Amino acid sequence: MERIGIVGLGAMGLGIAQVYAQAGHTVVAFDASTAVRESSLDRLRSSLEPRVASGKLPAEELALLLDRIAIAPDLSALAPCDLVIEAVIEDFAAKRDLLREIEAMTAPKTVLATNTSALSVGALAHALTRPENLVGLHFFNPAPVMRLVELVAHKGASPEALSLARTLTGRAGKEVIACADSPGFIVNRCARPYYGEALALLEEGRSASDIDAAMLAAGYRMGPFSLIDLVGADINLAATRGLSAAMTNHPRYHVFKALEDQVSEGRLGRKSGKGFLFPATPGPAPADAAAIQLRIEATLANEAATLVEAGGAAPDDIDRAMRLGLNFPRGPFEGARRHGRESILSELVRLARLAPARLAGRYAICDNLPDLI
Ligand code: CAA
Repeated sequence: MERIGIVGLGAMGLGIAQVYAQAGHTVVAFDASTAVRESSLDRLRSSLEPRVASGKLPAEELALLLDRIAIAPDLSALAPCDLVIEAVIEDFAAKRDLLREIEAMTAPKTVLATNTSALSVGALAHALTRPENLVGLHFFNPAPVMRLVELVAHKGASPEALSLARTLTGRAGKEVIACADSPGFIVNRCARPYYGEALALLEEGRSASDIDAAMLAAGYRMGPFSLIDLVGADINLAATRGLSAAMTNHPRYHVFKALEDQVSEGRLGRKSGKGFLFPATPGPAPADAAAIQLRIEATLANEAATLVEAGGAAPDDIDRAMRLGLNFPRGPFEGARRHGRESILSELVRLARLAPARLAGRYAICDNLPDLI
């Protein structure tokens, strides 16, 4: 079976290693930090022990899974890999330099993949000697549980590289949806209003608990703030800033001060022990939960319409990607249809009227929205 290399053994990298090891591949895993390397198999074992205890994972399978992951003392151990996926920090120079290093020590046919959520895959490929071998494989947190992987094809990616990445990832149990190398791909772009409208509501004085509880009451698995706490406020801020810059600071991608403050004050969420809500959980749903849901679902549909308009993805693919990538109970167009076209459009008009001038453009109705819902 193909040998998979993983570089970066934080929550994402380790989760990705688990995905391919579970599918029977030998995984060679490396992290530049000795402490992270040395703790990685213990972290993986601890995350899976509850499944063993509840009888969902036989103890022998866990042992086999751990056996298939070889922690490498240095990058050169990745030389024989067929596919190498990097999941290091969201920093262009760090990823570029690492990919160059990996390219120099692997065979010409080795496929390289970046798990970036915010950077241009094409720009990273441009820095390589064999740009055609690089693809984007964007996993969702927690990687072993979330079913979607976005396969990002930059313009110069070879059909062979795309096909190998798709086949191995699909065989490992993931739903692979191809998407263009455009800012935020499908899910991170279309999810922006989930976080952004929640941050706007927070700025207007609502509590994170009320907002999260309202969305839980609508069937969402996690409210916006618990989701930021899961993924990390730093990652969320990087994704928002990346989109904002790529979209010439359009107010739909406004970077809210509350998010910047979380990061500058180190309240990153689960990984730092404190977030917008974490370690607390949301309380009961507020009396106006339905109004919060309508507001967030109206802006989700409007954002998705802008991606369709730009030719980035088909409406059904967007709905499916949002269900699979975020475990949303329904995609943005499906959600909007439940409210009805008139409610969605009048909500956006209402929001534009009430918003401060700097934010009013967030709610401008995309031309094709009425036809999509
Ligand atoms: N490996 C395998 N299975 C695991 C696992 C692991 N590491 N961790 C959990 N599971 C399994 C559990 O055993 C359980 O299985 P069963 O259904 O068979 O019992 C299932 O996954 C659910 O786990 P839990 O019962 O522990 O937890 P839960 O029901 O509270 O669900 C959750 C947790 C899956 C995280 C859920 O809350 C959820 O779907 N939240 C939304 C997460 C999300 O949106 N992620 C995407 C974030 S955005 C992103 O990542 C993109 C980016 O670029 C930043």
